Amino acid sequence: MSNETDNIESWTSTATNQVRDEIAAQPLEVNEKNRLWWETLPMTYEDWGKEERDPVNLEDFERVDRHYFGTNPYLQQVWPELCQGAKVLEVGCGAGSAACRFGSQGMIVQAVDITAKAVELTKRHAEVSGISSVQALQCDAEDLSPLTDGSFDYLYSWGVMHHSAHPERCFAQACRKLKPGGRGLIMVYHRNSARFWLKGLYWLILKGRFLKGETFESVQRHFTDGFYQKHYSRESLTKAMEDSGYVVEAVKVTHMSSRMIPFIPEGLRQWLKERIGWLIVAHVRRDA
Ligand SMILES: C[S@@+](CC[C@H](N)C(=O)[O-])C[C@H]1O[C@@H](n2cnc3c(N)ncnc32)[C@H](O)[C@@H]1O
Repeated sequence: MSNETDNIESWTSTATNQVRDEIAAQPLEVNEKNRLWWETLPMTYEDWGKEERDPVNLEDFERVDRHYFGTNPYLQQVWPELCQGAKVLEVGCGAGSAACRFGSQGMIVQAVDITAKAVELTKRHAEVSGISSVQALQCDAEDLSPLTDGSFDYLYSWGVMHHSAHPERCFAQACRKLKPGGRGLIMVYHRNSARFWLKGLYWLILKGRFLKGETFESVQRHFTDGFYQKHYSRESLTKAMEDSGYVVEAVKVTHMSSRMIPFIPEGLRQWLKERIGWLIVAHVRRDA
C-alpha cells in the first residue's frame, strides 16, 4: 500500500471546522477569509488540532519534506520533468518543500503565498537547508502584479488555487507570468473522485445535511481543508485552463486513500486512482 493515503483521512478535524465557522462569522472580504484560514492553520503536515504545528529546525523541515514527497508519489514520478529552465514560480508555497527542492536542484525560485506565515516558513526552510536561490513573497495569486510578466520558465502550484475565492483569476494571472512557451503544473481537487461522491454521500445522508439544504458541493467543506475548496472535472479544468490562456498538454488524475474503497487489490486501487483519485493535475504551456 502506498503511503500517499496516510494523511488523507485526517485532513479535517474539529479544529478545521471551528476555524472555518469563526472566520465565516466575520465581515471580511472573500479572499481575506481564505487567507485567514491558512494563516491560522498553515500547511505543515501536522495534525490540524495540534498546538505547536510550525517546523522550526532542519529536522522539522526534513520531516515536512518526507511527508510532502512521500505522500505524493505522483510528484516523485514527474519531478524530473518539472525542472525546466532557470526560473520557477511557485504559487502557494506553504512550508516551502517544493520551493527548496527546486532551489536545491539549481533553479532560481520565486515562491508566493497569500499568508505571511507561509512566506516566513519558506524563508526559514531555505535558510536552515542552506539554499540561497529561493525568494518568498506574500502575494495573493489573484493579483500577481508585483511579478514581471513573461519572466518564468516554469510554473508550479500544488493544491492552492482551488482554495482561492476566484481560482480562475489565479490561473490567468499565473499564465501571464510564464515566458511564451514556458510550461507548468497546476494541481487542484477532482470533482469526479471517490472522495467527493462517497464522503459527500455520507455527509448528506448519514449526517443528515441534506435536511439542512446542503448539496454535494457544499458538504465538502465539512471534511476538506481550506475556507474554500472548488473541485474540477477533467472537462471543467481543461476549459478553465484554456480560458486562462494555457495550452493543455495533459490532465492526470491521482491520489486515492485505501480507506476510501477498502478491501480491493492494490492493482485495482492504482487503476481506480488514475480515474477517480482526489487530485487532478493540469500540465500546461503558455503558447509561444
Ligand atoms: C493546501 S496548502 C498547499 C501548500 C503547498 N503547496 C503544499 O502542497 O504543501 C494551500 C496553500 O495555498 C495558499 N493560498 C491559498 N490561496 C492563495 C492565493 N489566493 N494566493 C496565494 N496563495 C494562496 C495557502 O496560504 C496555503 O499555503
